[in-house]
Amino acid sequence: MTILVTGGAGFIGSNFVLDWLATSSEPVVTLDALTYAGNLNNLKSLEGDARHSFVRGSIGDTALVGRLLRSHDVRAVINFAAESHVDRSISGPAPFFETNVMGTLGLLEAVRGYFAQRSDFRFLHVSTDEVYGTLERDEPAFAETNPYRPNSPYAASKASSDHLVRAYRETYGLPVLVTNCSNNYGPLQFPEKLIPLMIHNALAGKALPVYGDGLQVRDWLYVGDHCSALRRVLEAGSLGETYNVGGNNQKTNIEVVRALCTLLDRKRPKADGTSYAGQITHVTDRPGHDRRYAIDARKIERELGWSPAEAFESGLEKTVDWYLANEDWVADVTSGAYREWVARQYG
Ligand code: NAD
Ligand code: DAU
Repeated sequence: MTILVTGGAGFIGSNFVLDWLATSSEPVVTLDALTYAGNLNNLKSLEGDARHSFVRGSIGDTALVGRLLRSHDVRAVINFAAESHVDRSISGPAPFFETNVMGTLGLLEAVRGYFAQRSDFRFLHVSTDEVYGTLERDEPAFAETNPYRPNSPYAASKASSDHLVRAYRETYGLPVLVTNCSNNYGPLQFPEKLIPLMIHNALAGKALPVYGDGLQVRDWLYVGDHCSALRRVLEAGSLGETYNVGGNNQKTNIEVVRALCTLLDRKRPKADGTSYAGQITHVTDRPGHDRRYAIDARKIERELGWSPAEAFESGLEKTVDWYLANEDWVADVTSGAYREWVARQYG
């Protein structure tokens, strides 16, 4: 048996593939278009491992996906492939709809032509808490029953893909599972997202750009915990169900940035003895910025016995350690097109 992981050269997808092959003997085919966010170096440690094969291509290529499903006798697809960065969706929404909506449609079409061949087949769609919109400070956390109220083009495109997955279940009987999780952090995250961006900028002596007042709240999920949740949902989730996955770690952005500065002050003190916190700069807020996300993860705990294992403090320290030990990886991905994006976004 084999699983097909789409978007497996990106942040969460590559963590998932590495984690899967470290804990299971079941082969993996990774399909990834290798956009700016996809990086084959993430999977370098698998070179020569006969259990892993990589195919460059798009989830929207129904014929290609159909061939992969048949030739590898795939028993599950885990769909990570997406455009994933909110700020990029604000400055250019179209690719988000091409990949997250039309790409998912192409992928579902391939699965529709295949799934009847295997009675144990599963399609696991990895989605986000952003589809639920934003919360006031005292509102209860997002449950699976919350209405969809996406506020950014990224969130709208992910919401659309979730609806497509649901429709394929209702209309064609596809054996689907959906997860909606909170902000992931950990090794191999592209340094456009808050935590790796702040580590990268701090070490480079650059400003740490906090949007608005920095009091927006996110729930932080260590990527290893996300991988274990996905394995569990794939193994035991009920078909057609959605599971919210969270880290039980609600923090304001400014708290996160200050915690990173404190860790870096200890692990890589600045030559002049000052704190990295001196580099914090409040910049113009993100348009339509969601104020707070929080996940009610009681369903996955109650029904599947999963809960996150990593505390925020230890997860953040592991993450900082990884970035300090892998500066070559960061240098490699922060070349070329990335620099143009940073220049446009932050001026
Ligand atoms: P990422 O941007 O790091 O990686 C996305 C990967 O998808 C890249 O390797 C890219 O090359 C690939 N890709 C893009 N378009 C493709 C296409 N048409 N066909 C095949 N591959 C394509 O994203 P991530 O942070 O790893 O997120 C993975 C998934 O998890 C996404 O669906 C995202 O919406 C979801 N998610 C992410 C987070 C988070 O905090 N990062 C939280 C909740 C949900
Ligand atoms: O909640 C899940 C989502 O988390 C995923 O679906 C997305 O794919 C993922 O990118 C992430 O979205 P966010 O917008 O929450 O993540 P980001 O890292 O871009 O930003 C986190 C918070 O930090 C957010 O409130 C914006 C703020 N921020 C971000 C950047 C890049 C800053 O203040 N400054 C910055 O430079």
